[in-house]
Amino acid sequence: MSEDLVTSDLLQLSQRSRQASGQPISTLMAQALANPELISLAAGFVDQHSLPAAATQAALQSIFANPQRARAALQYGTTPGFAPLRDQLLARLRAADGHPAAEESLTIDQVVVTAGSNQLLHLVCETLMDPGDIVLCAAPSYFVFLGLLANLGIRSVGVAMDADGMIPQALDESLERLHASGELARVKAIYCTSYYDNPCSVSLSADRRPEIVQLARKWSLASRIHVIEDAAYRELRYEGEDLPSMRAFDETGEVVIHAGTFSKSYSPGIRVGWGVLPPDLVEPLCNQKGNLDFGSPNFAQHLMHAVIDEGNFDSHVRTLRESYRVKLRAMLESADAHLAGIPGVKWLIPQGGLYLWLTLPEGVDTGPRGTLFDRATRAGVLYVPGEYCYPAEGPRQTNTIRLSFGVQPAEKIRQGMAALAEAIGQSIR
Ligand SMILES: Cc1ncc(COP(=O)(O)O)c(C=O)c1O
Repeated sequence: MSEDLVTSDLLQLSQRSRQASGQPISTLMAQALANPELISLAAGFVDQHSLPAAATQAALQSIFANPQRARAALQYGTTPGFAPLRDQLLARLRAADGHPAAEESLTIDQVVVTAGSNQLLHLVCETLMDPGDIVLCAAPSYFVFLGLLANLGIRSVGVAMDADGMIPQALDESLERLHASGELARVKAIYCTSYYDNPCSVSLSADRRPEIVQLARKWSLASRIHVIEDAAYRELRYEGEDLPSMRAFDETGEVVIHAGTFSKSYSPGIRVGWGVLPPDLVEPLCNQKGNLDFGSPNFAQHLMHAVIDEGNFDSHVRTLRESYRVKLRAMLESADAHLAGIPGVKWLIPQGGLYLWLTLPEGVDTGPRGTLFDRATRAGVLYVPGEYCYPAEGPRQTNTIRLSFGVQPAEKIRQGMAALAEAIGQSIR
C-alpha cells in the first residue's frame, strides 16, 4: 500500500466540516460553471460594469501619496478596526437615521469592523449562542445565514412575513409558544434583514421596526433576546424614502446588533463590513475576533476610509442606483410581458435590493430535483430554488423562486425571463 493511500484514509473531518458539505451556494455555482452559456439570474453578485475602479484608484493614490500613511495601511490593524473609519460609520448611521436620541449615546467603541458582514454575523453567533440555541428568522431569509446557524448547531425557527416584512404578531405567537414549551431561554436572537431583504427585496415597514425591538425586550425573560438587524441592502434604494434603522428605536442600546457592509453599495472585493453593538457585547465579540484574526484586513479599511473621505462613496451609490433601477425595470417589464399571463404566478414589486421573489401555483416544485429547475436550465436560465431560503423549522414553500437582477445586463435579463416563463408555462400545463 502506498503511503499516500494510508494518509488519505486517515483524513478525519470535523463534525462541522461534514455538516457544511452540499450547501446550496456550491451546488448553484457548480451548475453555473458547468454551463457557461446559462443566463444566471441566481447569483446575488453586484453589477460588474459599475464597480468603482476610478474612485478606488483615486483612494489608493491618496494613500500612497504619503509614505507614512501608506505604511500605516500596510501594517496590521487593531481588533475592532481602523478608528477613523469607525468614526465615519457612526456619523453616517446617525445622519441616515436622523440623529435619534437612541443613537446619540453611541460611541465608536461600539463599532467593530469585520471582513464583510458575514463575518460579523458569524462572530455574533459564536459569541452569543451554543448548539441547541434558537434564532427566529423571517420565512424566507438569507440562506447563507441559515446555513451558518445550521453549521453551528443553532436552530433556525421561521416566522411568517408579508410585503411589510416579519409579522410582529406571528413573532409574538412564536415566542409565546416557545415560552409555553419551556424553550424560551434558548432563544438568543431575532434576525431581520430590515432593508430590501434577501431573497424577497421586502423592507420591514416603519411601524414594525419599533414593535419588533419591543417584542425582543418583552420576551427577554430568561435571558436577553437580541435583534440582529442586517442592513446589507440599505443603500440600494430605487423608490420611496429611507427608513430609520431598528437601531434607532433601541432606547436602552442593549437589544439591537446592527450589521452593515460596503459589499453591495461599493465593492464586495474590498469586503468591509461592520457591526454596531450593545456596549456589553463589544469585549466578548472582540475576544472571539482576537482568536480568529485579531483584526480584519487593515488595508481594505484604510481604502474605504479614503473613498468616503474624498466624497466618492455617496456619488458611487447614486450611480449604482441608476444602473440597478434600469435592470429592475427590465426584470419587471419582462415579468409583466411573460409571466402575468400564467395563472397563479405572483411576485412582489421591489423598491430596492437585488432580488425578485416569485410564487408559482401550489404543486409546482421549483426545487433542484424538480422538473422546472431542469427545464429552466435546459432553456438556458438558472434561478435559486426558494426552498433554500426557509429556516430549518416551520413551514417552507416549495413553489417559490429567487431571481436576481444584479449581475446580468438588461438584455440578458429579458432573455432569461422569457426562457424562464417558457419553462414555467410548460410545468403548469
Ligand atoms: C442579507 C445579506 N446579509 C449579508 C450579506 C453579506 O455580505 P458581505 O459578507 O459581503 O458583507 C449578504 C450577501 O449577499 C446578504 O445578502
